[in-house]
Amino acid sequence: MPPMNPSDLKSIHTDVAKYYSDKLHQHGDTPRGVDWNGEQGQVLRFAQLLRVVDLATAYSINDLGCGYGAMVPYLQAAGGRFSYHGYDVAEDMVLAARRRHAGAPNVDFHVAAVPTLEADYGVASGIFNVRLGHTDAGWMDYIRSTLEAMNQTSRRGFAFNCLTSYSDAHRMQDYLFYADPCALFDLCKRSYSRNVSLLHDYDLYEFTILVRKAA
Ligand SMILES: C[S@@+](CC[C@H](N)C(=O)[O-])C[C@H]1O[C@@H](n2cnc3c(N)ncnc32)[C@H](O)[C@@H]1O
Repeated sequence: MPPMNPSDLKSIHTDVAKYYSDKLHQHGDTPRGVDWNGEQGQVLRFAQLLRVVDLATAYSINDLGCGYGAMVPYLQAAGGRFSYHGYDVAEDMVLAARRRHAGAPNVDFHVAAVPTLEADYGVASGIFNVRLGHTDAGWMDYIRSTLEAMNQTSRRGFAFNCLTSYSDAHRMQDYLFYADPCALFDLCKRSYSRNVSLLHDYDLYEFTILVRKAA
């Protein structure tokens, strides 16, 4: 698969950053400000994604599409020793995250569309959902290219979620992207690791994929 055309990539990042910046301005640094319905779903997603992490040993983690950094208190409550790097395409989101977590030890935030540091783990919650006017083919290229970057920057594993193509047809919306879980499972299994989990049993219209790398 050839690398994605940089101008197509840039146009996606610009559109997505504007969409989420507007949400933040409307709703502040709250779950609705990152376009979730509420905190319950937000933390349920964290719980699925973080199944890739071994909390018993110290770890570093890249959170791609970190929003205002809601994962930080979740990780703190989980009890392991960690260093956290959050990345977001929307600059305002990163500024909100820095304000909210000022002084938190081993936590930093960056304006970026791919992780810029290597870490033990990489996670991404909600970054593949809002495709706006981009085509199915263009958006799949974008997903592949972002997963490639997550793979390259994570030593022990990575995890991400997507809306599912198994959603009820009458609830689906054109500006959202509903991915085929089987196709993404296949991609991860063939391209990244023999150890891949597909979690599609947590009652949201989405799924999570965990890619565990060999020790
Ligand atoms: C649905 S929100 C979720 C925020 C956070 N993960 C959470 O669950 O609270 C998605 C966030 O990802 C950001 N985003 C989307 N695509 C991105 C990308 N390729 N790189 C970095 N950030 C991205 C958006 O700006 C937005 O803040």
